[in-house]
Amino acid sequence: MPLVIIAGLPSTGKSTRANQIKEFLQDVNKVKVHIVSENDIINNKELQKNKVFSDPQKEKEIRGILKSEAIRLLTPENVVILDAGNYIKGYRYELYCASKNSGSTQVTVETICAKEEAWDWNIRRSEEERYSKECYDALHLRYEIPDSRNRWDSPLFCLQSHESLPGNEIYQALFLRKPPPPNQSTQSAPLSSANFLNELDKITQAIVAEIISAKKCGAEGTIKLPCHGGIVLQNISGSCSPAQLARYRRQFLNYAKLHPPSPKETPDGLAQLFGQFLNTTLSALPS
Ligand SMILES: *[C@@H]1O[C@H](CO)[C@@H](O)[C@H](O)[C@H]1NC(C)=O
Ligand SMILES: *[C@@H]1O[C@H](CO)[C@@H](O)[C@H](O)[C@H]1NC(C)=O
Ligand SMILES: *[C@@H]1O[C@H](CO)[C@@H](O)[C@H](O)[C@H]1NC(C)=O
Repeated sequence: MPLVIIAGLPSTGKSTRANQIKEFLQDVNKVKVHIVSENDIINNKELQKNKVFSDPQKEKEIRGILKSEAIRLLTPENVVILDAGNYIKGYRYELYCASKNSGSTQVTVETICAKEEAWDWNIRRSEEERYSKECYDALHLRYEIPDSRNRWDSPLFCLQSHESLPGNEIYQALFLRKPPPPNQSTQSAPLSSANFLNELDKITQAIVAEIISAKKCGAEGTIKLPCHGGIVLQNISGSCSPAQLARYRRQFLNYAKLHPPSPKETPDGLAQLFGQFLNTTLSALPS
């Protein structure tokens, strides 16, 4: 049932760690472990990783596949290891919501390695497996460091490349700890004002995506979204197409720029604000 999120910069040993954790949990703790690997998914789709990481749309598609694959494999008996860069804070938050929603515990393992050493590993890879200098540097710039003060990154194991695996500690964090109760998410950490709009952008995007997927499953009228502590929306109808939802989202972002919510607002609080905005907007439409 538990989920292990690997996070790290290029060539810092993410897949090596994922395999070590898999072996440890299988051999010592006798649990079944699945690895969901970004590399494999990129290879199976016959894509090239440098191309994927320079194409936000493609990259997002891969992230979507990774997330749904990881969540699909989460069962009470299995451990799932998500072996990917997972460098976006908002994405790790989404994974946390999803795993919490399926009653699962989660740990984050960050792989750390000196930049020169990692580059050295990188250039020793085969041509297809190698990051270009451009892509490598871009991923360094984009990386949002996991922080154990964020409840979605916690518990966090930061492992240097030469350190041995704290297998027992990881096992204990996964199995001897209660999963977080599904309704505690309103107690999230406050956002820093600097990346506030960025955060708001991601949160609202995630909500729109959830509405679209709920609608694909035939939801109408009043719906409850699983993430952000459960947002209830009313008047979801055939007339909220993806294009319309995208427009409401832009309106909300413009509104929020002019009337910024308190910087102490938590991600869940912002999600609620967007929910209220949608409620009001949708109920004003002719039915
Ligand atoms: C979670 O929800 C239950 C029932 O709705 C409530 O009794 C409990 O106090 C809630 N816990 C928290 C931490 O909000
Ligand atoms: C939207 O409206 C419904 C029905 O009035 C209400 O239960 C829900 O809490 C509202 N959602 C938000 C996010 O305010
Ligand atoms: C919106 O939903 C509320 C509660 O379900 C309902 O009373 C109202 O008629 C709906 N409004 C529209 C415009 O559909």
